[in-house]
Amino acid sequence: MTSSSALSKSSGAKSLRRSRYGCIECGAVSAKWAGRCDSCGEWNSIVEEAISATSVAASPPAVAALPITEVSTVESTPFPTRVDEFDRVLGGGLVPGSVTVLGGEPGVGKSTLLLQVLFGPASTGHTVLYVTAEESAQQVSRRAARLNTLHPSLYLAAETNLAHVLGHIDQCRPTVVVVDSIQTVYDPTLTSAPGSVGQVRHCAHRLVAVAKERNIAVVLVGHVTKEGSLAGPRVLEHVVDTVLSFEGDRHHALRVLRAVKHRFGSTQEVGLFSMGEAGLEAVLDPSALFLADRRAGVAGSIIVPTMEGHRPLVVELQALCVAGSAANPRRSATGVDPGRVGLLLAVLDRRLGYPMMGLDTYAMAVGGVRVYEPGADLGLGLAMVSSVSNRSLPAELVAVGEVGLGGELRSVSGIERRLAEAARIGFTQAIVPRSTPQLGVDIEVLRVPTLDAAISLLGIAPQTR
Ligand code: TYD
Ligand code: MG
Repeated sequence: MTSSSALSKSSGAKSLRRSRYGCIECGAVSAKWAGRCDSCGEWNSIVEEAISATSVAASPPAVAALPITEVSTVESTPFPTRVDEFDRVLGGGLVPGSVTVLGGEPGVGKSTLLLQVLFGPASTGHTVLYVTAEESAQQVSRRAARLNTLHPSLYLAAETNLAHVLGHIDQCRPTVVVVDSIQTVYDPTLTSAPGSVGQVRHCAHRLVAVAKERNIAVVLVGHVTKEGSLAGPRVLEHVVDTVLSFEGDRHHALRVLRAVKHRFGSTQEVGLFSMGEAGLEAVLDPSALFLADRRAGVAGSIIVPTMEGHRPLVVELQALCVAGSAANPRRSATGVDPGRVGLLLAVLDRRLGYPMMGLDTYAMAVGGVRVYEPGADLGLGLAMVSSVSNRSLPAELVAVGEVGLGGELRSVSGIERRLAEAARIGFTQAIVPRSTPQLGVDIEVLRVPTLDAAISLLGIAPQTR
C-alpha cells in the first residue's frame, strides 16, 4: 500500500525514485519499515534503501581487466606493526589500502591495543592518525604516555563528525588511520541518529572508499553486543577486508585476538596477550600461565590439551558436582560450552548409569580461557565423574577426545601437536580415543574406545551406579 501511494505521488517524474526496506541482518526485503524483521526476528535491523527505476548503461571502464597473471600484488604486502601477536594474526601486519574491523566488548582493551599497534609504524617513518570519537584527546594522550607509545608522528583527533574525520585524513596524509569507534562517528547530512545502522554503514562505506583511493590501512573499532556479533552493522563484515575479534574475561588478564574474516590470509592464527599495568603484553608460554596456580591431586580437576587456531594450549578444567535441589538443579559453565556440559551429564546419566542429572554442576576452564571445542569432552566428563566419586585423577595425565551421544570417543584434529605441547611442559600420560593414530610424541598413550572404559581404566568410578 505504502509503495503504491508513493508511486502515485511521484508519477510523472522521469526517473522514478522509490524506496524499499531491507534487513541488514538477513537481507530480507519488504515494502514497509518495521521495528522488527519478520524473517529473522532481529530488532532495529530494517533500513531504507533507495531503488531507481532506471539503470545504468555500459560505459568504458577506467582500467581494463587484466589477465590474472599480470596483476601486481606488490600493493597488498603487509607492513609489520611491531606488536608481534597482532602481526601474527594478520599474517605479517597491516595491508595498505585495507580496512580492518576490530570488534570486542567494551573494556576488553581495543583502544589500548591500537595505541600500541600505532606506535610501530609511527616510529618507523609512517604518519599515523588516531581518531578518538569516544574519549577526549587528553584521555588518549595520557594513556599513550602510560603505555610509552608517545611519538610525534602519531596524530590525534577527537572527532565524531565524518566530514571532519575525512578532513583530518586530508590534512595529515597518514598511512594508517584508526577510528575509535565506528559507532560514534556520524554524517550530519543523514537524517538517521548517530549510532544507527544506517549511519554506521554509511560512515564505514566512506572510510572504505578513502582507504582504497589513498592506499591507507584503516582500522575501525566496533563494539559487540552481548551475543558477540558486531553491534547492528553485521553488514560491516561484508564491506571490510578483515574482521578481528578481541576477547577476554575482564576479571582475568588473558586476551585472545583472532581473525573472523581475513582476505589476505589464514584465520587460524591467534594472538595471546595479557593485560597488565603497562598495557598488553605478548603471552609467550600460555600453557605455563594457565597452570601456574594448579593444585594437583584435587578431585574434579583434569588437564586438557586444547587448540586455539593452530596453537596448542594446555589448560586445566574443573568440575564440581554436588547434591542440590534435585527438582531444579543448577548448571554453571565458565569458559566451557554449556551445551557440551549438558550433553556430558546426559551421557553419564543415561548411557553410563550415574545419577548425574539431579546434581548441581559447576564446570570451568581455569585462567579466563574459553575452551568450546569438542576435544575437551573427555576431560570434562572425567572431571565430573572424579568430582562425584571424590577420587582424583593422576597429576601427570592429560585427556583429549570428543564424546558422542552413545558415550563413544572420537579423535579430534591436531592431536599430535596437542600431546607434544603436553609433553613439553612435563605431562607423561595421555588418555585418548582408540582411533588415535600412532604418534611420534614422547608420552605414554592410553587408547580407550568409550568414556566408560576411560573411567574404569583410571579407577575413578563412583561406588554406586
Ligand atoms: P580499553 O582499551 O579502554 O578498552 P576498550 O577500548 O576495548 O573499551 O581498556 C580497558 C581496560 O583496560 C580498562 O578497564 C583498564 C585496563 N587497562 C589496564 O589494565 N592496563 C593498561 O595499561 C591500560 C591502558 C588499560
Ligand atoms: Mg575504547
